[in-house]
Amino acid sequence: MSGTLVPAGVRLAATADVPEGAALVVHVGEGEGRVSLVLTRRAGAFHAFRNRCTHADYPLQRADGRVLVQQGRFIVCGAHGASYALDTGACAGGPCNGKGLTRVAIVERDGALFGA
Ligand code: FES
Repeated sequence: MSGTLVPAGVRLAATADVPEGAALVVHVGEGEGRVSLVLTRRAGAFHAFRNRCTHADYPLQRADGRVLVQQGRFIVCGAHGASYALDTGACAGGPCNGKGLTRVAIVERDGALFGA
């Protein structure tokens, strides 16, 4: 599901910028083609999701720009509290009503994350 969202080889972030149990918002592209992603790390593995909550299509971060992660396992949407598994993006509670985040394929290489 990544091909159209993030071109292969586009650098997204340094792995050091995505600590274990955390989530980081990054942006790719410009203008109307700009895409917002959430990068996460759980149990040493990196994941990426489209930064759009399935409840009301808001971005997941809070007003301060940070994404709330609870217990190192769940992303919590800053708008109305929908929660998603940090590693799969599956809806884990709240108003996402069973609809998970859209996964974006990435690869880790030389200490950084890239579109796959
Ligand atoms: S838009 Fe995320 S919980 Fe409502």
